[in-house]
Amino acid sequence: MNRVRIGLVGCGNFGESHLQAFRAVPQAEVAAVFDTDGDRARRIASQFGIPQVCGSVEEICGLGDLAAIDVVTPEHMHLEPVRMAHAAGKHVFVEKPLATDLRECSAMIESSASANRFLMVGQILRFETKYAMLNDEIVSGRLGQAVSMHARRNRPKSLLPLYGRTHPALENCIHDVDLMLWYTGQPVRKVRGFSRHATGRKHPETFWGVIEFEGGAIGVVETIWMLPDAGVMLDDAFQFIGTEGMANLQLHPGAFAILRDDGYHLPDVSYDPRVGGAARGALRDELSYFCECVQSNQAPQVITPIEAKRAVRVILALIESAESERDVEIAAWD
Ligand SMILES: NC(=O)c1ccc[n+]([C@@H]2O[C@H](COP(=O)([O-])OP(=O)(O)OC[C@H]3O[C@@H](n4cnc5c(N)ncnc54)[C@H](O)[C@@H]3O)[C@@H](O)[C@H]2O)c1
Repeated sequence: MNRVRIGLVGCGNFGESHLQAFRAVPQAEVAAVFDTDGDRARRIASQFGIPQVCGSVEEICGLGDLAAIDVVTPEHMHLEPVRMAHAAGKHVFVEKPLATDLRECSAMIESSASANRFLMVGQILRFETKYAMLNDEIVSGRLGQAVSMHARRNRPKSLLPLYGRTHPALENCIHDVDLMLWYTGQPVRKVRGFSRHATGRKHPETFWGVIEFEGGAIGVVETIWMLPDAGVMLDDAFQFIGTEGMANLQLHPGAFAILRDDGYHLPDVSYDPRVGGAARGALRDELSYFCECVQSNQAPQVITPIEAKRAVRVILALIESAESERDVEIAAWD
């Protein structure tokens, strides 16, 4: 079967991770890149042996031999490249969160429908082995009905200068809210958010959210961008308690630790780990699944655009709640 020819829009930190991951996906071929920072695009193209560097989003979307566009621009800059790619007849993979407002989410869902081209959103945890195994366990019914869920997703303070551009709930809690929606299959009726600004930045670096689901389950999401920088990349955990059982999942520092003369190193072994320089893990598996969907012309089912928009809806309600210091009800679900 022919390889899926892809154009990458956005060659920043995670765009580079995508390129590493695509190298480990035999059915993928990244043929062109575009970034508003032309030097960055040229450097990345040369590093990864990508033949074409485009000068605009119109140019990359207009390349007739590309089947798909991979959008890895900052959180609030997904709409334009996604819409342009759809209009040019390309399937689209776009990083999370789908958008930072609901109107833009709807516009991308509409552009996908009217062009009859896919829109897959990078809710990567649905491809992470442990989180996906937990979903299987819940779907099997062995844990009974969801009663309580508690998710933690904390990051070192050195990541604040980059990701502090977006509210941490949209940046990070979006993952756990999406999981809770996946695990329960239930709409959210009411939320309450809490935030703290210890560092005086535009967005808080501490966020807690309490989520009430229609079926009665309660979820708590937590993200704090204040961990010490000494080798810690992530501190993630999820607890699910059902009427028939419970599950505890941890990706906390220390699960795999390396001590060298230059300090203590706690590498990621789940999302984007490397073995012999080649990508493994959830990002590779997610992008591989997208390519399989394009090759077989089957719309991605593991995460749909409507589900990605629901997660944004819950997050925006949580942020509104934290800012207004009151409960926020979600009246219209879709
Ligand atoms: N799934 C995950 O675990 C995960 C992890 C990190 C980042 N992300 C997501 O990936 C996306 C990108 O994040 P990042 O860390 O790579 O950010 P980044 O700032 O490092 O990179 C963004 C790149 O996009 C370029 N850019 C900006 N506007 C553009 C435009 N209109 N057209 C083309 N290029 C443009 C910038 O020059 C930059 O090189 C975000 O949506 C982020 O939330 C997801």
